[in-house]
Amino acid sequence: MKTHKLFPKVDALLHGGDYNPEQWLDRPDILEEDVWLMKEAGVNTVTLGVFSWSVYEPREGEYHFEWLHKILDTLYENGIYTVMATPSGARPAWLDETYPEALRMNLKRVRNLHGVRHNHCITSPKYRQLVHDMDVRLAKEVGSHPGIILWHISNEFGGECACPLCEKKFQDWLRNRYDNDIDKLNHAWWTTFWSHRYNDFSQINAPAAHGEQSIHGLNLDWKRFTTDNTREFMEAEMAVFRELTPDIPITTNFMHMYSALDYNKLSKPLDVISWDSYPRYGNPEESLYDTSMENALDHVMMRSFKHDRPFMMMESVPSLVNWHEYNKAKRPGVHKVTALQAIACGSDTVQYFQWRKSRGSFEQFHGAVLDHLGRSDTRVFRDVAEVGRLLKALKPVQGSIVESKAAILFDWDNRWALEDCAAFSKLTKQYTKTCLDMFKLFQKNGVDVDVIAPTEDFSGYRLLAIPMMYLMKPGVADRLKAFVSAGGQVVMTYISGYVDESTLCYLGGFPGDGLTELFGLYVEETDTLYPQDVNGVRFTGLPGVSEDTVFAARDYCDVIKVQGADTAAVYTEDFYAGEPAVTVNGYGQGKAWYVGARVEQAAMEQVLLAAMREADIPVKDLPEGVEYHRRSGDDAVFDFYLNYTTEPVTVETEPGVDLISGRSVSGQVKLEGLGVMVCQVQP
Ligand code: GAL
Repeated sequence: MKTHKLFPKVDALLHGGDYNPEQWLDRPDILEEDVWLMKEAGVNTVTLGVFSWSVYEPREGEYHFEWLHKILDTLYENGIYTVMATPSGARPAWLDETYPEALRMNLKRVRNLHGVRHNHCITSPKYRQLVHDMDVRLAKEVGSHPGIILWHISNEFGGECACPLCEKKFQDWLRNRYDNDIDKLNHAWWTTFWSHRYNDFSQINAPAAHGEQSIHGLNLDWKRFTTDNTREFMEAEMAVFRELTPDIPITTNFMHMYSALDYNKLSKPLDVISWDSYPRYGNPEESLYDTSMENALDHVMMRSFKHDRPFMMMESVPSLVNWHEYNKAKRPGVHKVTALQAIACGSDTVQYFQWRKSRGSFEQFHGAVLDHLGRSDTRVFRDVAEVGRLLKALKPVQGSIVESKAAILFDWDNRWALEDCAAFSKLTKQYTKTCLDMFKLFQKNGVDVDVIAPTEDFSGYRLLAIPMMYLMKPGVADRLKAFVSAGGQVVMTYISGYVDESTLCYLGGFPGDGLTELFGLYVEETDTLYPQDVNGVRFTGLPGVSEDTVFAARDYCDVIKVQGADTAAVYTEDFYAGEPAVTVNGYGQGKAWYVGARVEQAAMEQVLLAAMREADIPVKDLPEGVEYHRRSGDDAVFDFYLNYTTEPVTVETEPGVDLISGRSVSGQVKLEGLGVMVCQVQP
């Protein structure tokens, strides 16, 4: 069975979003209007209670859940399910006044004042206790309500706290990591450098601009600790619901490729992955397709955390946000294609922030399904209602999954270590952009690709793309060797395999940890170029690529010494002109490709295409500006084509039925500007 329905009792893709009735309790007319307008918009799910603590408990020990019961009942009677959030993302004033230890302290060791949200100390035992008590109360109050399909823990975990409680906990975390042996830590952090040796764990502070920030190992361990501490906080919340409502699954909403927390680690205990999608649609620097590719990468990363099931787009906006530099409205037609992109990438939901604009305070002008105007005959409402209708038509897709034969390896430890290392160029390392560029090449060729951590299982994939894996975790190199040896294809780039998990350099040649053997080469120097510098790369025997074409190489060029690898391309300029720039090494049944320079996309594409051919991964000829994905269910596959251009295009499809238009399609099919086709391919 491939199909995995996230919520068996809901026989539909979910459509809805954050609903804040607690802001309108004195307006029963509005609450009544909400329900029938939700039905008009095809909304079948809302998220309640994300920031409701001060209404649940206006004074310590005084609880009000009557309103929540009433809302849950009304929604359920009207066929609308609820994602029930815990309110730990923001606190009432009385809580901070009574328990100031709950307030976060920044890295300058200044305690925050009460206000905004997400500014609590995740370590504070008092805060954890209060959250626990609130969660127990919530679970007991509403946990048996038939309308609740999912718990939503807190909101967008993020940030760090450096209060004395957190610092002490960090020291204990280090004791545990380094077996209570300070010399192990001194070695891992290489503290003899600049005379930074510690005698005791108690001497260690969290990194700070006005304190220690030069030890890469410390900086990295602090980030790891912050993730572990956040996960512990999240799991403490989850434990309440696991015990009291074991049948209700649990999620927390992630942000895009958020830098401060290792989402791969946070994703593990969750039942469902969900995230909040807010691209800068309509920005002048890039096409709608390019903006959507960034969003696709986020979708795909979320999907890949649990690739045996759909994920959820928990928040998105039908019109504009209020926190971009310029808050531009979505153009006509854009909402449909961008909402369905989530489904194409493997989401079973299109959810919004927010159902109705709040009347005051910080998000009063943030887009919503319902405006202050209070009418359903608006462009935005109609766009939402159209998506509601389309999601009904796409019901057969529910529970199907995307099965990728290729994966890009992405790692937070690597991201942190690479960003932090004093080397190369601060301006051009651009790890996430490098991953995005790689991702775009798969998309351009219609190849579904997962984005996974290097610690994940490689079986099931035939090709692994490894951009800039500066920090190579223990065991990964051996697993890559086994993967290639058994017939896999690996494409790895410059600045890979420099340091181990403690950020200590591998000795004896990069890429380290035995990867020189896999790739049949070592890197003698890495040249960091100024933005004005351009080298050239010429392929010397890659099928289909002319030897006369010179592709540009910028930013980074490895000077490579081959030890068994074949040279696939050479540099054309500078003191390493004629030396290998791209190599390929046969290893067991498979091949290891090494791209030693940041070559232009057209050149990287040629290497990936060559590796895909070897891996027997079929490519698709897509018109420019079209995104393609395939979702597979038990009895059918669904091919999604999304046209981000405003012009009609022609796509090539297998015979099937377009679930959007209801028409039979086969061969060349015209897709309107901003059009979407979802072809249920005939078995
Ligand atoms: C999200 C957040 C929501 C809302 C939204 C606005 O990050 O979870 O509560 O603030 O942004 O775009």
